[in-house]
This record gives sequence, structure tokens and C-alpha cells, in this order.
Amino acid sequence: MGLYLGLISGTSMDAIDAALVDFDSRPMRVVAARAAPYEPRLASRLAALLDAPDAAPLDEIGRIDVQIGAAFAEAALVLLHEAGVPAREVVAIGSHGQTLRHRIEPPAPFTWQIGDPNVIAERTGLTVVADFRRRDVAAGGQGAPLVPPFHDRLFRDERQDRVILNVGGIANVTVLRRGATLLGFDTGPGNRLMDAWIARHRGESFDRDGAFAASGRCDEALLAHLLEEPYFELPAPKSTGRELFNAGWLDARLASAPAAPGGERTAADVQASLRELTAESVARAVRQTAPGASIYVCGGGAHNQGLLQAIARRAAPSRVLTTAALGLDPDFVEAAAFAFFARCTLAGVASGDPAVTGARGARVLGAIYPSGP
Ligand SMILES: Nc1ncnc2c1ncn2[C@@H]1O[C@H](COP(=O)(O)OP(=O)(O)O)[C@@H](O)[C@H]1O
Ligand SMILES: [Mg+2]
Repeated sequence: MGLYLGLISGTSMDAIDAALVDFDSRPMRVVAARAAPYEPRLASRLAALLDAPDAAPLDEIGRIDVQIGAAFAEAALVLLHEAGVPAREVVAIGSHGQTLRHRIEPPAPFTWQIGDPNVIAERTGLTVVADFRRRDVAAGGQGAPLVPPFHDRLFRDERQDRVILNVGGIANVTVLRRGATLLGFDTGPGNRLMDAWIARHRGESFDRDGAFAASGRCDEALLAHLLEEPYFELPAPKSTGRELFNAGWLDARLASAPAAPGGERTAADVQASLRELTAESVARAVRQTAPGASIYVCGGGAHNQGLLQAIARRAAPSRVLTTAALGLDPDFVEAAAFAFFARCTLAGVASGDPAVTGARGARVLGAIYPSGP
């Protein structure tokens, strides 16, 4: 059997996404998938850890590593139970884990994912592949984004230039131009800033369907000021995270922004401007790398209609659809990618793409935690 199970929780920390993928069917098929929200106490401890300044307590990191590993194992077991698939039919789990830090900067660039794979192996009885990013970083790469080679394999088309856009907390693009080699990079914020802003002003964890943003108006002067962030002008390879695009970044930019026209800028206007910030940074990337390409969106942002319309407006004449149009549920593309990467690791095949991450060469990514007796 060619069943592999992929697990990931992204920078939004909304849920552990789990996907069971059958690689024997052509094309590969997601057999079952499910999102398991973090238990609220674990989520708030994790948020406190991520937003803590440098002095995060070691004991708490140690505990949370193991507890997130247990939550990942549980997500896998519940998925298998619901799908009616016995664990013994699964070859391996590919676990991305939860990113704690992603700092690709001198003198010691590092990326750090937690969710102890030993715990996942022990609780599921399955072989686990994890720690996919650090070998790429050790080889001089960004360690991110990793998904482009998976998108390339699944979504490249000889009749159409395509951009696969993953809108998680951070947004990343995969550029699939006919006759051209693969490109991919993080464009900047995805949902993260919109999530932070609505949490502060409405006490909600995200802006469902973009309704709050739709109730305001984009402030063009503010948008221009937000776009002055140097990250947007950096050439690829590049990657970013909540270390840069967070509430502190937004507050600093708001403090230095020109006054709103008419003197008032409502919270809804800021939300609308943040929607346009994500849309414009994505549209720029498309205009620069594959103008007119069809854009297929995945990740939670694919549910935000206001955002999709803003991207379509700014990236015209590109069409904006979701990966559902290509047969893959937008909520589970990333989890499926880690099932694929686990398969690559066990086969000894390189899954890193140096053209995307800037690594010195292609590397077999991930470490193997055998199922054992
Ligand atoms: N119906 C919706 N409307 C607007 N935004 C949504 C909706 N559903 C999900 N999202 C957004 O998607 C995010 C989760 O996306 P996800 O791809 O899981 O990101 P990550 O990979 O960072 O975890 C949520 O935090 C939220 O901002
Ligand atoms: Mg998520």
C-alpha cells in the first residue's frame, strides 16, 4: 500500500491539519482529511511562548514539545479511526510540527519546529519522518517554502501558466510557468495580521469571509506605508514568519503612518488595508514572475472571498480560483505535501529544491523515527 499521513500546524496555529494520502492511485489521492483545533489551553500557552521575548523558559519549551507531539499523534489516530483505516496500512507519518522560530539570519540562521516525533511514533506505532526544514538551512538554504516541489509535481500544466498561492499565516507562491524552472518564495503576510487585528478589536480569531474588512475602506496612504517594508523588495530566495509580520510590526507601522484622509481611520479601515496588503504583495509577485498566470489558492485564506476578489483585482488579467478546481481541497494541500515528503525521505529521494530555497544542493530532507516494536 502507498498510504502516508501528513501532519502540519502552520503559523496561524488554528489547527493541526491531517491528510491521509494514497500514492498508489494516479494521480495521488487524499483519502481522508481533518483539522483538529489545538486544545485552547495548549494554544494559549503556545501563543505566549511564541510572543515571549528572548527569555522563553526552557522547561515550558520542553513540556510543550512533548504535548504538541501528543496532540499531533491524537490528530493522526482520530483521522485513521474516522476513515476506518487500520494504522498498520499506513507506511509512515510525515510531521512538519509547529514552528517555534524561523530566523534565517546571521550569524546562526535557524528554523525550529516542535512536536516531538518520538511521541508520535510511540503513540501511533508508526514510522515518523520529521524535521524537514533544518537540513536545507544547514545547506545554506531558507528552509522554506518547502511545498513548491510538491505543487510542481501535482499542478504543473503544459497548457497554462499557473501560480499556486498558499495563504496561511504567511503567504507563499509557487510559480509554474510553461518551459521554465520552478520558482517559489514567501510573499509576506497572509492572514496573520488580519487575524491579529480582528482579535484585538472584535475578540474573534479570524475575519470570517472577510466581513470585517468589507465593512471598512482601504486607506491607500496607509497601504503605501505598509508596503515600504523592505521584505517586499528583497529578491528570492526569501522566507519570513511571525518574527517579522506580527502585531508589533503593525503597531510600529501604524504609529509612523501618515494621518488618515479626513482625520479618522477606523479599525475596519485598517482591516481593509491589511487585506489589500496581502493582496498587493501577492499580486506584485505574480506580476513580476508570471503575469497573467492563473492563480490557484490554497490554505485558510482560500475561504476569504474579499481577499480573493482583492487579489483578482490587483493581479488582473490573472484569474483567481482555488485548488479545488484542480481536484485538491485547499485546506489540505500542505498536509498532503508532508505525506509526500515522508515518502521521499524513506525512498532516499531529495525533496528540497535549491532553486527555491537557495540551498547549496538538493538534499534528502527529514529525519526518520522508526516504528520499532
Ligand atoms: N471562512 C474564512 N474566512 C476568512 N478567513 C478564513 C476562513 N477560514 C480560515 N480562514 C483563515 O485561514 C487561517 C488558517 O489558515 P491555514 O492555512 O491553516 O494557515 P496556517 O498554515 O498558518 O495554519 C485562519 O487563521 C484564518 O485567518
Ligand atoms: Mg492552520
